[in-house]
Amino acid sequence: MLKNKNILVGITAGIAGYKICELIRMYKKAGANVRVVLTPNAQHLVSKLTLQTLSNNEVYIENFEINNYKPEHIALTEADIFVIAPATANSIGKIANGICDNLLLSTACAFANPMLIVPAMNTNMWNNPFVQENIKKLKTAGYHILEPADGFLACGTNGVGRMREPEDIFEKTVKILTGRLDGKKILITAGGTKEKIDPVRYISNSSSGKMGIALADNAYSMGADVTLISTFSVDRNYKNIVTPTALEMEKAVKENFAEQDCVIMASAVADYRVKNYSEQKIKKGVNEGKDDELTLKLVKNPDILKEICAERNASNSRSAGVRVKPIIAGFCAESENLIENAKIKIQNKGCDFLIANDISRKDIGFNSDENEVYILDKNLNIKHIEKDTKQNIAKRILEEIFEQV
Ligand code: CTP
Repeated sequence: MLKNKNILVGITAGIAGYKICELIRMYKKAGANVRVVLTPNAQHLVSKLTLQTLSNNEVYIENFEINNYKPEHIALTEADIFVIAPATANSIGKIANGICDNLLLSTACAFANPMLIVPAMNTNMWNNPFVQENIKKLKTAGYHILEPADGFLACGTNGVGRMREPEDIFEKTVKILTGRLDGKKILITAGGTKEKIDPVRYISNSSSGKMGIALADNAYSMGADVTLISTFSVDRNYKNIVTPTALEMEKAVKENFAEQDCVIMASAVADYRVKNYSEQKIKKGVNEGKDDELTLKLVKNPDILKEICAERNASNSRSAGVRVKPIIAGFCAESENLIENAKIKIQNKGCDFLIANDISRKDIGFNSDENEVYILDKNLNIKHIEKDTKQNIAKRILEEIFEQV
């Protein structure tokens, strides 16, 4: 999987440093060439000899050990990815502020390829507003952060701060280097539901389902195990469950969502359905003999997105190393006050991401081949994805969401 990839591993002085020996073994087994750089304090926690033996390479700690006539921190940047694990609050703060007072930090400052930072620290340190500010700064600048898990910590307490396991770090590295979602299960819904009035008529909306299909196609080509639940049938190589109505979609989503790594509700689910479906075609003049008016009574449909988020939150055990699964994203179609309404909607639905688009614009959204979206996360961070084809927008959405999966 990682054949010919050059991975630079950075270890800072976190007690979880011993677990990096296993990570290096995994990288080597997958065919990567591994070099290791330590902060001076990290050498008290994990031995240089062990790391040298596992990586079959020199291990770097101090500045100014001349290598090939290039300054060491520049020579070390010749790698496809720099994985810093564990990353302490101290090193995170320095990286986020361009401080270079050891070889690892100078290398981080000069590194131009993707960087994966894997924090590990005490819960109060993780929750410290300055640490959070630094994490936010790094995320905004495009650094990959593998956020710590909730579990037992070396300081004897339980809480968020535990370094993610070597398997997770390995998986994340592969994903960053190959852009692949192999082994990930993803469920996507698409299309406007058709709420039946009688055997030949229904109430629906203008959603074409193009965005949902673009998401499913891209997830499939990135290697994911895709299930598309759509209101019309789609001829593809992935699983497709056809559910024309909101109630049918609700049943299919509920039967399938718990086993997924990610669910994206891109369908336009009708908020109401006809209360009394007529088995026979409705004839003119059923309303007390008049045929110039017809009254249809509508009843509320279930809010599928809100219900699966509630179910997921109730059943998710947030114990050691267990991730919140599945990650759930919804769409948000608004014709006015896009961002304000999206902020309210993500909180109301309880999902992890909300992709907001302005349906009042004629050039994007419903039925168009292009879109322009804002991706909100549950902390109300907003990322703008400029107007592009739905295919490219879908890829960007998947990359953003799968940062967390
Ligand atoms: N959704 C859902 N079930 C519904 C209505 C919507 O699962 N009965 C999902 C959609 O698939 C979408 C998200 O909720 O991912 C937001 O849909 P949207 O139509 O923007 O909002 P509504 O919840 O319908 O709220 P409103 O119409 O009041 O804006």
